[in-house]
Amino acid sequence: MFAIPALDLVPLGAAAGTVRLPGSKSISNRLLLLAGLSEGETTLVDLLDSDDTRVMLDALQALGCRIEPDGSTTRIVGFGGRPAVAAADLFLGNAGTAMRPLTAALAVLACEHGGDYRLRGVPRMHERPIGDLVDALRGLGCSIDCTVQEGYPPLRLRGGQLDLSRPVRVRGDVSSQFLTALLLALPLATAQQAVQIEVVGELISKPYIEITLNLLARFGIAVQREGWSRFTLPQGSRYRTPGVVPVEADASSASYFIALGALAGIDAPVRIEGVGADSIQGDIRFVEAAQAMGAQVHSEANALEVRRGAWPLQAIDLDCNHIPDAAMTLAVMALYADGPSTLRNIASWRVKETDRIAAMATELRKIGATVDEGTDFIRVHPLAQFRSASLHTYDDHRMAMCLSLAAFHELKGSGPATLRIEDPKCVAKTFPDYFEALFSVVSVERDRVPVITIDGPTASGKGTLAASVAEQLGYHTLDSGSLYRVTALAARRAGVAADNESALAQVAAGLKLRFEGTRVFLEGDEVTDALREEAVGTMASQISVWPAVRAALHELQCSFRRLPGLVADGRDMGTVIFPDAALKVFLTASAAARAERRHKQLISKGISASLDSLRADLEARDARDRSRSTAPLKPAEDALELDNSGMTIGDSVDLVLGWWLQRRPFVLQG
Ligand code: DC
Repeated sequence: MFAIPALDLVPLGAAAGTVRLPGSKSISNRLLLLAGLSEGETTLVDLLDSDDTRVMLDALQALGCRIEPDGSTTRIVGFGGRPAVAAADLFLGNAGTAMRPLTAALAVLACEHGGDYRLRGVPRMHERPIGDLVDALRGLGCSIDCTVQEGYPPLRLRGGQLDLSRPVRVRGDVSSQFLTALLLALPLATAQQAVQIEVVGELISKPYIEITLNLLARFGIAVQREGWSRFTLPQGSRYRTPGVVPVEADASSASYFIALGALAGIDAPVRIEGVGADSIQGDIRFVEAAQAMGAQVHSEANALEVRRGAWPLQAIDLDCNHIPDAAMTLAVMALYADGPSTLRNIASWRVKETDRIAAMATELRKIGATVDEGTDFIRVHPLAQFRSASLHTYDDHRMAMCLSLAAFHELKGSGPATLRIEDPKCVAKTFPDYFEALFSVVSVERDRVPVITIDGPTASGKGTLAASVAEQLGYHTLDSGSLYRVTALAARRAGVAADNESALAQVAAGLKLRFEGTRVFLEGDEVTDALREEAVGTMASQISVWPAVRAALHELQCSFRRLPGLVADGRDMGTVIFPDAALKVFLTASAAARAERRHKQLISKGISASLDSLRADLEARDARDRSRSTAPLKPAEDALELDNSGMTIGDSVDLVLGWWLQRRPFVLQG
């Protein structure tokens, strides 16, 4: 039932601060292929690490390139003009920037040296047209089979006889990636003569062709062009690695933070590092569109600072052919404008990761917006009152990132709405840490950050339940027991006794802690395993009776309440630390069931233990936790009780997520 993880966003407030963006996807994958086709070693600095670059790296490796990642650099030893293997089956996910150029390069290489290459991807990739490129390559003499449906991947490339007597003709009006693919691959065919490419129809997305030409030039290939209709690759063109190549940050990714500055950079700017006025990416011109809507932008060579100017934003009517990807961001900004905004000449949206015109219209309507759409335009009307909604993201990274910008509606006077972003991890295609970056610059009052509390006795399975619920919701976790345990451990190390309240409180207040996921570090030392030792647990229970110790840990626990939300487990999460939590669960299980679980846990770690003494110890600890005068273990009045003695963890997670959903202001559709 809850197979798809989701991220619930509360209304977000002002933004300020600095974000560093990941490398550009378009540049990263082009550079990877060029490095692979070159002889010798290329070092790429700040290469994007994402789904789409990973499939390209895997493909190059399968073809015989040596790839050595090392921190922020990636060293690639290319295979030059000839892959090490003549047959390969390559899986390219949903990466158009891998599928198209590799198709062209391998089709040509198979003609020159013989070969049998299969290229395939996820189901959506098999719905994305590639017929125009296949036709162009067939016109050149390449033998290509579309093995399932003519005009679509999967493909099989099996050599052929290159005929370069006529120009290669390719359509330019569906996707510029076809021309890019030919430009990147055809230097391979220039040993005997120059190769000409003729574009049929009006070329769309010209800025992406400029990126291709720019990067080819860096690899020693000087393409001559007449307007945008005829390109010549000179005879004897050879890929020559420039050695070290820095990868620019992604200008399309910058669009979300430029929009953020325009919407929420109220008292201070949002600073974006890694891309600026010197960018070779066409999407950098999104800056002009954002300025037209009112953003104040200060550009540096390699950085941008954006703050709010006009408010509400100014409506625009814009031909977006030059910024096809970034233009999606304008569709969401339009919700905050002073009139309807029309984005034109965007037919290419329909053949991207999903049909983006239909997807954007459908999802914005769920929030309450009026949207008109046509084959190649979208018109978005401003919205006064945003509605809570669960928003589908279509396995499309840009849908997820764009839709998150609808969470700033209170800044425009709308009442609060909760937006659920379904499958938020789809941002991994180009920007794996997008939401972390967003939350790092957005402010929100602490008490508006949603909290789910899971209290209960020791070994009831709170930790496991909390971690699973948090994982499904994309929320942070607080294992408050670990703070009492780490205090106990630190006290033991410092020789402080369990009855010395003031010294213990001092230890608790001075803890130097660092958390990495579920790992805990004390003074730089990892103590994750040490914290689970029985002796530490027993001392934790003893020292947790002291009011001064509890007070010393109070603020530390509250500081875990950060966007997008928190799942906190312990004894007094719902009663004392987060009394305003949106959902409180009191988890119990019989002492017998808990003793058995703990027993299994210890045995699996190779620690021997007696079931009876474990049970006696648990009961003693329960009694102490229940009877202490400060913050005793008891259900909050508004807690929902869950006895999981006979339940699997999956059942408990489903039950809690079901309770959570009942308290969300939207109904799930579909
Ligand atoms: O959940 P745990 O077993 O890791 O917790 C260790 C001890 O810390 C437990 O015996 C009682 C104490 N504790 C507490 O008093 N309040 C909390 N919120 C969490 C733990």
